Amino acid sequence: MTVWLQPIILLCFLLNCVDSLAPFPVLQSVRYNNSFRLTRVTRTHVQMLLKKYKEQYLENGHFEDRSRHLKDLPLLSTDFYSWLELSDWERLHAAFQDMQVYWNKLEWQRKQLEKEDRRRTTVQSTLLKSFKHIQLDLRDLLSQVSNQMSYINSSWVKPTSPTMQSSFKQEATSEIVWDRRVEGYVILRDLDLYLTKLARDFLLLASKTHS
Ligand SMILES: *[C@@H]1O[C@H](CO)[C@@H](O)[C@H](O)[C@H]1NC(C)=O
Ligand SMILES: *[C@@H]1O[C@H](CO)[C@@H](O)[C@H](O)[C@H]1NC(C)=O
Repeated sequence: MTVWLQPIILLCFLLNCVDSLAPFPVLQSVRYNNSFRLTRVTRTHVQMLLKKYKEQYLENGHFEDRSRHLKDLPLLSTDFYSWLELSDWERLHAAFQDMQVYWNKLEWQRKQLEKEDRRRTTVQSTLLKSFKHIQLDLRDLLSQVSNQMSYINSSWVKPTSPTMQSSFKQEATSEIVWDRRVEGYVILRDLDLYLTKLARDFLLLASKTHS
């Protein structure tokens, strides 16, 4: 047992919270709490980027097109009851895979934008940096989730880097600049919704392990 665990166990005794599973649930729930917070922060960054992206690339800050979808993005409408059936590890694994998909999509979209115009305005350069920041947020989340997974199940081997399957296939995307730009909107719009769902998942995981 590592030294830093001891004060926590002692605290547990003092608080009379040594149920059958202490200190594991307490630590886990603090971790889920951290992931929850990071998810919320990331979502705020996505929302800010989405707004600027619409102004800059779609020339309309209020652009909405609910009819557009990308079929290889993770489903946003998970059935809550089947989610309840899953083990914590399976929930984390699903989140891990979904976040990788978004990371890859952002990478691809960012590269497209870079190619589109080599002489960029300052605003465009800032937007490209924001894409990069969100990817870094996602990478941190991926690493947190991966740690949690190996904590629950020691046979989970942490991938050395969340950066990604080189064989990752993109669905055939449009050659038309406008359509490609709208795809960027769809990715950010769905990522915003996805992170809302993910934050809720972390809250549930935290409250479950806390009780
Ligand atoms: C999780 O964070 C919330 C506030 O963000 C706090 O009220 C709660 O006590 C935290 N729970 C744990 C187990 O850290
Ligand atoms: C534990 O991890 C392994 C390897 O990643 C995985 O195949 C297995 O399904 C996991 N077991 C449980 C009980 O989640």
